[in-house]
Amino acid sequence: MEKKIGKNDPCWCGSGKKYKFCHCSFDEKIEEFRRKGHKVPPRKIIKTPEQIAGIKESCKINIAVLDYVGERIKEGISTEEINRIVHEKTLQLGGIPAPLNYNGFPKSVCTSVNSQVCHGIPSEEVILKDGDIINVDVSTIYNGYFSDSSRMYLVGEVSEEKKKLVQVTKESLEIGLQQVKPWGFLGDMGQAIHDYARKNGYSVVREIGGHGVGLEFHEEPWVSYVSKKGREMVMAPGMIFTIEPMVNMGTNEIFIDDEDDWTVYTADGEPSAQWEIMVLVTEEGYEVLCY
Ligand code: MF3
Ligand code: CO
Repeated sequence: MEKKIGKNDPCWCGSGKKYKFCHCSFDEKIEEFRRKGHKVPPRKIIKTPEQIAGIKESCKINIAVLDYVGERIKEGISTEEINRIVHEKTLQLGGIPAPLNYNGFPKSVCTSVNSQVCHGIPSEEVILKDGDIINVDVSTIYNGYFSDSSRMYLVGEVSEEKKKLVQVTKESLEIGLQQVKPWGFLGDMGQAIHDYARKNGYSVVREIGGHGVGLEFHEEPWVSYVSKKGREMVMAPGMIFTIEPMVNMGTNEIFIDDEDDWTVYTADGEPSAQWEIMVLVTEEGYEVLCY
């Protein structure tokens, strides 16, 4: 239970406005959803305009780093080379790579090739070859604010089958995005993504999801892409979370490499694709912060 605020007290969001003119009706709405048994966002994940501005600056770096990777990625380079590119560019732009040393992660970026679903560790031994698909997942800390987004890159001549997987994964994310609006549910988005992927003959990873982000690398809520319409947390203005479905060509079953304890693989060795964006819930709908 949050502390009761008087109507004329300053709002808890830090806007400096009186509560009755600021988040009072917001809180009433939240309370109504809570009473009906829905999961509701805690105050600490509702960002202030100042925090949103800071997070957007962090996102600018994340986007610039992904663009930079896109210009350099090619057949014959190692994923360690991508790590160097990301590390150096992030520092040059004044940021810190968030993955480095995060829960012991040893590198500055995740690079996941073909049947690697996510959290691949860059290595001199992994050389990109003609026909590979790779996810490069970049996360930045700038001025204390976190950003996180990832893209797929095609190496050389990629088969139609794999290209379609990459394309459908991106489309599924965009279809999910259309469901983001204030006072909707995260499950509306999750189901839209899952339905679209399945309609195309693919499966969606269940165990790993998205997350709130901005003040920390991973915040509440945990975000599923196999959830159901009308379920999961209510989306409220000021929330920022990732949309990052992992879509598999074959089975949705996965396993974690027991040597490095990080890299996630598809159980059947079939390819997997992922795109990740950061989205802000606004009064009107949504705003994409990082793509
Ligand atoms: N960027 C990943 C995500 O989307 C998190 C990777 S954690 C790391 O949530 F330690 F592997 F970097
Ligand atoms: Co993420």
